[in-house]
Amino acid sequence: MALKERDEFSGQMTTGHEWNGIKELNTPVPRLLWAFLTIMGLFAIGWTVLMPSWPGVSGYFRGLLGVDQHQAVRQSLAEADIARAGWSERLVNEDFATLAEDDAIMTVVRHTGPALFGDNCAGCHGYDAGGNPGYPNIAEAPMMWGGDLDTVAETIRVGINSTHPETRYGQMLAFGRDQMLGSAEISALADYLVSLQGEKVLSAEETESAKTLFADNCAGCHGEDGMGMVETGAPNLTDAFWTYGDDRSAIRHSIYDGRQGTMPSWEGRLSQTQIRLLALYVMDLRGSTP
Ligand code: HEC
Ligand code: HEC
Repeated sequence: MALKERDEFSGQMTTGHEWNGIKELNTPVPRLLWAFLTIMGLFAIGWTVLMPSWPGVSGYFRGLLGVDQHQAVRQSLAEADIARAGWSERLVNEDFATLAEDDAIMTVVRHTGPALFGDNCAGCHGYDAGGNPGYPNIAEAPMMWGGDLDTVAETIRVGINSTHPETRYGQMLAFGRDQMLGSAEISALADYLVSLQGEKVLSAEETESAKTLFADNCAGCHGEDGMGMVETGAPNLTDAFWTYGDDRSAIRHSIYDGRQGTMPSWEGRLSQTQIRLLALYVMDLRGSTP
């Protein structure tokens, strides 16, 4: 047995081993570190026993506590679904009059509507629904096809001049191109419509003959007074809203070449809940405008 002794330089004990005059100091790992490592080791073993851990052939060891993150996620998704289903189901099953009066529903509509409208409708109608050339303003203009909630939801569902079998169908005839009216008559009608905007003053005679032309050719779709008819989808020609432009040349173009806008059908692309939500959203944007 070699002799343990105190090292004269460091003041520490040696292990007693000596190799060619070199002695080894006895510096054991501090107790505190041992204690720490032991506790951590025990904790790790305990943790793998309690929690899901070891992989197996056909699964994994689920742990004695039965904690399951997948389960937790499934649970919270199911709860979110139920919460959503609450209003989702109401949107589909309750009539619009009830829904429009319900603050909770309208909060959901105002919250969810902008993103849904932005993703699907804004490309044509604009983010504020104020329209773009060729695409009507649906935030303020009188609705060509009718502005009660059921009608609007139906317009969104089937579309206008769309590929849906039940599509709404509307067409402004090409009076010039198809030679139903001569160039002078078309000009007279264009002037008349511009004059209704207060942009031009016609003589009483010009107004009278234009009115006759209008009654004979246009009133069947746009109404006697030119204020539009939801049955034909023909717009009001006496107000400030124009899908294709309010200047004389755009109006003349509409009468000469005709117009036929296409609004896609959303059935199949949006759920019934989303379609009804959008109808409420659009009508809410309009305030009380019919
Ligand atoms: C590809 C372009 C396009 C997209 C996308 C589009 N629309 Fe339209 N929409 C139109 C056009 C064009 C008309 C007018 C059709 C016509 O000439 O009668 C129209 C008409 C309408 C009308 C009837 C307006 C009236 O005066 O009666 C409503 C309501 C409407 N759109 C809502 C929507 C909603 C909601 C969306 C989104 C889900 C949407 N639109 C997406 C092009 C579009
Ligand atoms: C067969 C029905 C029909 C007849 C007849 C008809 N229109 Fe139209 N008109 C429409 C429809 C539908 C539209 C909407 C087209 C669209 O938005 O795609 C329209 C649109 C227009 C527009 C464009 C409105 C805008 O917002 O830009 C003008 C202008 C117009 N009509 C004038 C006339 C005049 C003038 C006559 C008579 C010579 C006439 N229409 C006869 C159905 C008709």
